[in-house]
Amino acid sequence: MKSYRIMIVVFSMFLSILFLYGAAKAQAQTSNAARAMKIINANGCLSCHTINGVGGTIGPALSTEGAKGHSIHWLEVQIKNPGDHNPSSIMPHFHLKPAQLETVAEYLESLK
Ligand code: HEC
Repeated sequence: MKSYRIMIVVFSMFLSILFLYGAAKAQAQTSNAARAMKIINANGCLSCHTINGVGGTIGPALSTEGAKGHSIHWLEVQIKNPGDHNPSSIMPHFHLKPAQLETVAEYLESLK
């Protein structure tokens, strides 16, 4: 009978850990999106691109950018040096810090 109780305690501890892990992961994802949108707004990306219904139409909409199969690296190159993908690109170069570049590229890749 006693070992049965211990098993319940161990099992509920296991469930709590799973729950906390899930909550922490969800929060990390939301804050990455919020950080990315801050950088996107600060750099005027939405003057040419639409994300979730907001923005311009000079460049392609980015709301489903992650469904196009581009890697994070491809997205980072596109933001840093659009001319590498399209020599006649009118998209400006953006000199973001490596961490900012990664945040934005990861966010765009998550949009599916
Ligand atoms: C002056 C307009 C303009 C601005 C500002 C701009 N872009 Fe672009 N972007 C474009 C155009 C036009 C394209 C189409 C491909 C090309 O010509 O490079 C493009 C392409 C892209 C693509 C590839 C889309 C695809 O799937 O083909 C991504 C990703 C992107 N831009 C991200 C950004 C981000 C992030 C910012 C802000 C840091 C930004 N762009 C700012 C004009 C712009």
